[in-house]
Amino acid sequence: MTDVLDDARDHRHATAVRLTEVTKTYRAGTVEVAALRGISGDIPLRSFSMIVGPSGSGKTTLLNLVGCIDVPSTGTVEVCGQRIGELKDNALADFRARHVGFVFQNFSLVPVLSAYENVEYPLLLIGVPAAKRRERALAMLEAVGLANQSRQRPNELSGGQKQRVAIARALVKEPSLVLADEPTANLDTETGAAIIDLMHRVQSQFHTTFVFSTHDPHLMSHADETFVIRDGRLVDHKAGAVQ
Ligand SMILES: Nc1ncnc2c1ncn2[C@@H]1O[C@H](COP(=O)(O)OP(=O)(O)OP(=O)(O)O)[C@@H](O)[C@H]1O
Ligand SMILES: [Mg+2]
Repeated sequence: MTDVLDDARDHRHATAVRLTEVTKTYRAGTVEVAALRGISGDIPLRSFSMIVGPSGSGKTTLLNLVGCIDVPSTGTVEVCGQRIGELKDNALADFRARHVGFVFQNFSLVPVLSAYENVEYPLLLIGVPAAKRRERALAMLEAVGLANQSRQRPNELSGGQKQRVAIARALVKEPSLVLADEPTANLDTETGAAIIDLMHRVQSQFHTTFVFSTHDPHLMSHADETFVIRDGRLVDHKAGAVQ
């Protein structure tokens, strides 16, 4: 794991993600959908950034590009100094595994595993030794306030607690970038706001660059940087919001 971390930290760019004239067009047979129509902008390193826009505006498409799940149709996406369009499928998957952690709207926890095992799992996949896995997974559960729920399975946890487990799981490998696509969409307003604050706290604690998407403009006051998108275009960018 140390190799992965050192490698990520060697890229000391002040910019975590740089988008230059990015477009994404989906093709289904003869039908084309222009999901992103020329987006340029920088997501600063170690920022807590938010992408806000209505349904269908292109948030998930944009996060998929930033998260190296997909590549742009035209334009360039650079993540930690690497142009992702230049990576072939395997290299893209490898880059993603090393550098990016994900938090999903529907939590996506493994139901038969305990909270602890869900958090430990990504470390098991990359061959981290047992003692180190235990230390890291317990530290992450502690960081998200779930030290006492580590043995519980997802169906024994509340929505907010499930999302806390998912945040711990996304961060356990210490990725340079964590992406959360509408992480509060399945939570009530109060729990959602608490989850955003928790994400911000762990973002500063672990010096991660954190990007989340939402359709809720009220969450803007919680973010360092806000990118407003509509119909696949960046229509506003607010930097350094007052906390
Ligand atoms: N795989 C796909 N094939 C074809 N069109 C797609 C595909 N994925 C998304 N789209 C279209 O691209 C546009 C942007 O979709 P996207 O999912 O990025 O929006 P979103 O902002 O995440 O919306 P929501 O808030 O509902 O999640 C929409 O018009 C959508 O219908
Ligand atoms: Mg979406």
